[in-house]
Amino acid sequence: MRIPEQVIENILQKNDIVDVISEYVSLKRVGKNFMGVCPFHNDKGPSLSVSPDKQLFHCFGCGAAGNVVGFIMKIRNIDYIDAIKFLADRVNIPLETSSYGDNEVEKIYEINIQAARFYYSNLKQNSDKIKYLLNRGLDLKTVQRFGLGYSLDSYDALLNFLKKRGYDEKLLLKAGLVSQKDNKIYDRFRNRIMFPVFDHKGRVIGFGGRVLDDSKPKYLNSPETPVFKKGTNLYALNFVLKKGMPDELILVEGYMDCIKLHQHGIENTVATLGTALTKEQARLIKRYCNTVYLCYDSDAAGRTATLRGIEVLHSEGLNVKIINIPRGKDPDEFINTFGVDEFKRLVEKSLPAIEHLIFASKENKNFDDPRDRSNFIKEVIDILKILNSEVEIHSYAAKIYELTGISLQVILDQLNKAKNIKSNNWNNNYVNRNNNIGGNNFIEPGYKKAERKLLMLILKNDDIKEYIIQRINKEDFITPSYKKAAMLITERGLKEFNDIVKHFEEQNEIQDVALIFAEEDLTTLDLETIEGFIKTLKRTNLERQIENIKLKIKEKEKSDGYDELLYLTKKLEELKKQLSLL
Ligand code: GTP
Ligand code: MN
Repeated sequence: MRIPEQVIENILQKNDIVDVISEYVSLKRVGKNFMGVCPFHNDKGPSLSVSPDKQLFHCFGCGAAGNVVGFIMKIRNIDYIDAIKFLADRVNIPLETSSYGDNEVEKIYEINIQAARFYYSNLKQNSDKIKYLLNRGLDLKTVQRFGLGYSLDSYDALLNFLKKRGYDEKLLLKAGLVSQKDNKIYDRFRNRIMFPVFDHKGRVIGFGGRVLDDSKPKYLNSPETPVFKKGTNLYALNFVLKKGMPDELILVEGYMDCIKLHQHGIENTVATLGTALTKEQARLIKRYCNTVYLCYDSDAAGRTATLRGIEVLHSEGLNVKIINIPRGKDPDEFINTFGVDEFKRLVEKSLPAIEHLIFASKENKNFDDPRDRSNFIKEVIDILKILNSEVEIHSYAAKIYELTGISLQVILDQLNKAKNIKSNNWNNNYVNRNNNIGGNNFIEPGYKKAERKLLMLILKNDDIKEYIIQRINKEDFITPSYKKAAMLITERGLKEFNDIVKHFEEQNEIQDVALIFAEEDLTTLDLETIEGFIKTLKRTNLERQIENIKLKIKEKEKSDGYDELLYLTKKLEELKKQLSLL
C-alpha cells in the first residue's frame, strides 16, 4: 500500500508528538520541552525529552530518537506502514486503499498545474482582465509570480482543455475543477480571476476565483479534495519559506492583502483565506517561527476573528501582536491609499495582542459613566478569559487598574464568576477550585494592607522611598510574600510588576504582588498616614515578639534555666516599653 505524502503529512500534523507520547509516558513540561521516563530502557531519572516545536523525541539515556511515527514503531514494535495506519486511525483519517489507489493524488496535482497554466494563458489573452488586476495595484511581475489567471465565461472551456489532455471526468470532479448537475458536467469556475492556492511546498492544491464585479459570491473556492483541505494550509507560505525562515509572520485574511504585501517587499505574509484560524494552521506556523502579527479587518467580523485567532495562536505558544488598521480598511486598501511605508509604521506601532484588545475596548468610553464602566469590564473579562497564566492575568488586571482605576479585586472577582459559569455549563468536575483567585473569603489583617500601601508608596515616589526605608527595613515586613517583595524592591531595585512577580511561584503570592500594583495611591501625601502604616508594622512585629517571648518564658518556668529566664523577662520588658512608645 502506497500512502500519498500529503496524507502522511496530514496524519503527522494531527498526531501531536506530545499528545501521543503522553499516552505511554507521563510527561512534564520543562522549559520549551517535555521530559519523562524513557520507556525504551531501564530509566532511572527522566531522560526522555520531547520537543513540541520540532515534533521529535530524544532519550539522553539510551539515545532513542525520532518523530511520532518512530516512537509508535518502537513502542508497539510494528513497521512503518502499520505505525502510519495506527496514527491515522487514532485521529480518524480514513486510509482505504481504494481511495488512494493508482497515484490518484499525484494525478490531481498534475491536473491542478494544467488548470493553472490554462487560466494563466486565458488571462494573458484578455487584456481587460489584466487591466482589472493592474487597476487593483498589482504589477505584472506579481501576477506572474502568484500565477494568477482567468477562467473564461464558458461552461466547458477547462473541461475540454483537460479532457483533450487525457484526464477523465471522474478525476476532474475529484480535483474540484468541474461540477456535476443532472448528469451534466461543467466548469466550476467561470468568468473569475483565478488564484492558485499552493501548499507550503509550492504544489497547486486548489483555487480561489474572484468575480470581476459586485456579484455574489465574491469568491468561490475549490471544494475539499484529497489534496485541498481547508484549515490545514496557509496561503503564500511557500513563498515565505523560499526566502528562509522569518522570525515573525504577518497573518492576513485575503488573497489580495497577502499578494499586495508581498509585492511591496513585506514577504513574511501569509493568509488564512477567510476561514477561522485553526489549531493546525497555528501548529504549522509554530514549526517556523514564534511571533505572529495578526492583521485582520477592523470591522466587527474581523474583531471576532482576531479574538479567536489570538486564542488559537496563544494556545500553541506563539507570541501574538496586532496590527491595527484604522477606519475599516483591509491591508490592501490601506496600502493603496496611504502607501507601504505607512503600513510599516502600523507594524512598528503594533501592540501585544491582549494589550491591544484592552486599549481597543477602552476607546470611546467614559469611566465615570457606570454603563461604560460595566461594558468595559464585560469586554475585558472576555479578553482575560483567553489567558491561562495567573501571572499574565494579574499583570493585565494591574494594568487595567492603572488605565481605568477599576480595582483589581473587581476584575478578578468577575473573571472568576465568568470562569465558573463556563465550567458549570460544561458540567466540568475537574475545575481547579484553588483557582478562586479573586475570592475574598477571609478578612485580611490590617498589617497586610499597611505592608501593601508602603510597598506601593516606595514604588511610586523615590523621596518617599528614602523616607520609608530609613524608618523600616525588609525584616519589618511580616507577610512572607511582602517581605520578599520588599527585598526585591529596595535591595534589588526592581520596579515593574513583571520583574518582581518572576520571583514568585505560589498563586496566592502572585496575587499579593499584583495587589501592590492595584493599591490606590494616597489622595494627599501626608507623613502622618505613612507613619500610621509604619507604626502598624512595628506594632504588629513587637506584639508578635512579645507573644513569642511569653511562650518561651512559660516553657522555661517549667524547667529551671534561671539565667535564660532572666534574659527573657528583661527582653519582654524592653519590648513592652518599645510598644508603649510607638
Ligand atoms: P477583495 O475584495 O478582492 O479585496 O477581497 P478581500 O480579500 O479583501 O476579501 P474579504 O476581506 O471580503 O475576504 C477575505 C477572504 O475571505 C478572501 O480572500 C476569500 O478567501 C474569502 N472570501 C471572501 N468572500 C468570500 C465568499 O463569498 N466566499 C468564500 N468562500 N470565501 C470568501
Ligand atoms: Mn480587500
